[in-house]
Amino acid sequence: MKILLAEDDTQVRTELRELLVEQGYDVTTAVDGIDAFEKFRADELIEILLLDIRMPRCTGLQTLDAIRKIESDTDRIYETIFITGNSDNDAVIAALKLGAFAFLFKPIVVEQLLSELASASDTINQRRYRAFQTAMLSNQTDSTRLTKVASSIKGGMGATSEIAAIGAEHYSPGIELHVHRISEMALCVASRMGLEPQHCQQIRLASLLHDIGKLGGPAELYTAERPLTEEEFEQTKEHTNLGAALLEHYDDPVIKIAQSIALQHHENWDGSGYPAGLKGDEISVEAAIVHAVDIYDNLRSVRPYRAALPHHEAMDVLVNGDDKSTPDHFHPGVLQALLSEHRQIEAIYERYKPS
Ligand SMILES: [Fe+2]
Ligand SMILES: [Fe+2]
Repeated sequence: MKILLAEDDTQVRTELRELLVEQGYDVTTAVDGIDAFEKFRADELIEILLLDIRMPRCTGLQTLDAIRKIESDTDRIYETIFITGNSDNDAVIAALKLGAFAFLFKPIVVEQLLSELASASDTINQRRYRAFQTAMLSNQTDSTRLTKVASSIKGGMGATSEIAAIGAEHYSPGIELHVHRISEMALCVASRMGLEPQHCQQIRLASLLHDIGKLGGPAELYTAERPLTEEEFEQTKEHTNLGAALLEHYDDPVIKIAQSIALQHHENWDGSGYPAGLKGDEISVEAAIVHAVDIYDNLRSVRPYRAALPHHEAMDVLVNGDDKSTPDHFHPGVLQALLSEHRQIEAIYERYKPS
């Protein structure tokens, strides 16, 4: 998740920024309210506002008020956490009226800050899910309809991607949080690989669409609580081509990446994957990242033919292989980054665990 941290005290701002970056957040900083307003408007990837209430030029409250007014007719989803001194009771009440998500009193307790940020992230994901459900109630769940719903949303591409992605989940109610896990894990691996922060955020959004092609096939294929026949398994492979076809009409950098991920996320590094049997660098790095975290996530989940594996066993399969997988299936740099970030990957799985 991308955070906008607005704090006029240089030392507090620098320390908080370092702490949040260490925790894996992408952080943009602002020195006062007007700076915060402009940066929030300019960057659609910002989802959490961390605002000091007392700032020069424009207070945190005035900033949120201005943002609320200007964003009121868009579908942008964001949450605001205020930082305040103990004596600012009136400001706290005013912030509540503006819809603040939480407050942190100075001096900031790190555990509280991280816990509020985790709750805000969960709330944002739930709000997206509800937005999608509302849209789905008035639309049939076939791919043509969904494409129309997605493209009719004029807001940030982030919202469009997420809504469309959640559509794909509609066919797999048992794994409704799967795409959110894949998205956060892909961001984590991409960051570890040293990709540009903007590119990492694009991968986070684009990977939400990796299984969008499942909308194009019969739902039973993806919800069957029994092992699939060989013929059925061959049919499921088509979700890669269908996903790519569904996304080819969008001229947007995130969707371009999403298309390559949708098409190639079942390709293996050694050429043994599908649909095209691509090998090595023929596979986009974005798809190679999603491929690895998708396999990890599948290993952690219950399947009709096996129980869910604990974290260390899933990692063992990735590194040493099993009857279906070998380490040669994975981009070596991706596998290394996944291993280096394994604690974080496990934490993401736990955070978005299926209920
Ligand atoms: Fe897939
Ligand atoms: Fe998947």
